[in-house]
Amino acid sequence: MMDLCLRRKRGALLKPLLSLFLVCASFLMLHRLAERHAAVCGPDCASFKKEPVRSAWWSSNSSEDSEPASNQTLAFWDAQVLNCSEDTSVRKKDWFARLDGKFHQFVLHRHCRYFPMIINHPEKCADGDVHLLMVVKSVIEQHDRREAVRKTWGREHTWDGRKIKTLFLLGTPTTGKDTNNLQKLIEFEDQIYKDILQWDFMDTFFNLTLKEVNFLKWFDIFCPRVQFVFKGDDDVFVNTHNLLELIRFKVEEHKDANLFVGDTISKAIPIRNRQSKYYIPKELYDKPYPPYVGGGGFLMSSQLARRLFVISEKLELYPIDDVFLGMCLKNLDVTPEMHPGFRTFGISRHNSSPMNREPCFYKYLIVVHRLSPQELLDMWSIVHRQELACAHRATV
Ligand SMILES: *[C@@H]1O[C@H](CO)[C@@H](O)[C@H](O)[C@H]1NC(C)=O
Ligand SMILES: *[C@@H]1O[C@H](CO)[C@@H](O)[C@H](O)[C@H]1NC(C)=O
Ligand SMILES: *[C@@H]1O[C@H](CO)[C@@H](O)[C@H](O)[C@H]1NC(C)=O
Ligand SMILES: *[C@@H]1O[C@H](CO)[C@@H](O)[C@H](O)[C@H]1NC(C)=O
Repeated sequence: MMDLCLRRKRGALLKPLLSLFLVCASFLMLHRLAERHAAVCGPDCASFKKEPVRSAWWSSNSSEDSEPASNQTLAFWDAQVLNCSEDTSVRKKDWFARLDGKFHQFVLHRHCRYFPMIINHPEKCADGDVHLLMVVKSVIEQHDRREAVRKTWGREHTWDGRKIKTLFLLGTPTTGKDTNNLQKLIEFEDQIYKDILQWDFMDTFFNLTLKEVNFLKWFDIFCPRVQFVFKGDDDVFVNTHNLLELIRFKVEEHKDANLFVGDTISKAIPIRNRQSKYYIPKELYDKPYPPYVGGGGFLMSSQLARRLFVISEKLELYPIDDVFLGMCLKNLDVTPEMHPGFRTFGISRHNSSPMNREPCFYKYLIVVHRLSPQELLDMWSIVHRQELACAHRATV
């Protein structure tokens, strides 16, 4: 179709040709979006809230996706209706009036757990055994970070017979943003890469725990044959090779069933400084935190992910997602393992430290937090250069 559009105008000036091309391209894009309506559906899509997000991948054979696994064909996301009115009984609690106003929204909607999906990929894990699923928390606007991750540690490939797949977890734009255009952009991005899961809740800081529980449920439904999950932010450096080596080592030691490894924080207490992003008022929580891992990145086994899903349904949501997972682990009697290769607070707390730019450190680490997309791309290519000679194992 695009061919036709272009051919008819052969010989015309470049500029009208170009704009015609753009028109054709957007027409094609909209056409494809309409075709995949069942899988990808914008907020103004009328039927979407009434029907389950049953993707078209098995009902139509025109799709380019791989064959469905035999017994998974009936899996679907069962939270179809957005029904999250506030829990008015909370307003009557004596602590509610004392509670810092910025937590009101959270406690009033705390009971709302599962949300409809706007973009789903039920086929993601269905294509044979997936050794490692890379799951990345992102927000719509951080397109450049996702690009950098796709080109580096999130590249889907098979490494030494072990298949790696990648997914980005998104909510909807926060109020005040150009919602409709952002939504169109993300749907277009997903048309190209097919690696986005999007739920119909606003992407705010306190809603990060929703991302956690909706993903755990999604994983339980759609990924019965994944072995390990790495969960991280979109601004981390991950040394995929070292991560796979860590898994191999844990499997050899038979320590993989309850595997949960990261930058573990023990004996932390809630932050009472109101200026902090992590501030928690006494009314909300008044105990020390259980051990938890910093959210920059951690590795877990799929068995444990499934057990976390089951236990998470028994716990009240907590506004800090890392701590919420720590609470779930505690209920399962699992202590997250500390590993020095996970540097979710950066290598050195001083950003200017030359260590933060030393490739040999990255070569021996597993996860390092807070890199810009360009820093990630640069560091990745340096670390993977054959001739990078590191005289001795860097000690950090
Ligand atoms: C695909 O669909 C067409 C028509 O809907 C049908 O004739 C064909 O047999 C299908 N192919 C497969 C592999 O199911
Ligand atoms: C699919 O799973 C169900 C139970 O979960 C089982 O009874 C059935 O035999 C399975 N079908 C196939 C084709 O494996
Ligand atoms: C929405 O939730 C409220 C409270 O949980 C319930 O009373 C109401 O019936 C629900 N509505 C729908 C359409 O499910
Ligand atoms: C979380 O998302 C829901 C649905 O979009 C929204 O109603 C709610 O206000 C959000 N909660 C917070 C604490 O931002």
